[in-house]
Amino acid sequence: MKGIILAGGKGTRLYPMTKVISKQLLPIYDKPMIYYPLSVLLLADISEILIISTPQDIESYERLLGNGESLGIRIEYKIQKEPRGLADAFIIGEEFIGSDNVCLILGDNIFYGQFFTSFLESARENHEGATIFGYPVKSPNEFGVVEFDQDNNVLSIEEKPEKPKSNYAVPGLYFYDKNVVEIAKSVKPSKRGELEITSINTEYLKRGMLKVVLMGRGMAWLDTGSPEGLLNAAEYVETIQARQGFYISCIEEIAWRKGFITLEQLKELGKEMDKTDYGKYILSLVEEHRK
Ligand code: DAU
Repeated sequence: MKGIILAGGKGTRLYPMTKVISKQLLPIYDKPMIYYPLSVLLLADISEILIISTPQDIESYERLLGNGESLGIRIEYKIQKEPRGLADAFIIGEEFIGSDNVCLILGDNIFYGQFFTSFLESARENHEGATIFGYPVKSPNEFGVVEFDQDNNVLSIEEKPEKPKSNYAVPGLYFYDKNVVEIAKSVKPSKRGELEITSINTEYLKRGMLKVVLMGRGMAWLDTGSPEGLLNAAEYVETIQARQGFYISCIEEIAWRKGFITLEQLKELGKEMDKTDYGKYILSLVEEHRK
């Protein structure tokens, strides 16, 4: 399975913070925002990843993550000239996806929770059709909203409806079979002029090939859409890390636990950052493992 991180857009809702910096590079406490979605792909055992961003920002991502070698993975980069919509990711990524299944995650979506890895594993195992998630929120009208019957069968999906039919938002994490490229190509722009991911999901629903997995109270899906959301997300990460001593979305740790890199390589990565708590955390993993 391939993975795509969509990290473009204009970031106008966070101006002036994002006037010269891509939103998905802003820090969430101690690491760049994109580390969080990248860690999700690694947790899903995905080691071939495409990062899509704007013509002016793509180089920053390349400088940050390179070709992925240091994490034992492969990272490619592609430009999205204009923010034409989320479904555009599959048109831009056509060659990269080839005939594989693909997972798309939005570069500004942060997930954390105990059973998250099992959610990811079950989504991966679903080889045909699409798997998306539902997450209860207070203001569903700001998101894609999924409606279902008593047996959890999906009845509809709507993009930012004025009158939401449920309080379940669809987070920016989607698993698709290889048909997604053809479907994306047939999507027509919405009223707001975008190729909506919701149109893709609606097509899978029509074909009877859409699975929705509901996330419950034990999962955190954090908002990064406003200065307040950014601060809250940073505080959340700091609180959990300080309390538990486990780091959230430490990509080097996950790459090692997944077997993409060796303990020796992990140590080298830690050494590069040994002046920070982040680097010290990595080195402490090495020490503990050697005991
Ligand atoms: O976060 C989940 C929500 O993401 C879903 O519930 C919605 O169904 C989905 O449409 C999307 O809604 P947003 O209004 O949050 O999408 P937004 O336009 O803000 O784009 C999400 C991220 O993707 C943002 O960081 C910018 C980036 N992006 C967006 C577009 C439209 C791109 O890189 N390229 C694009 O063309």
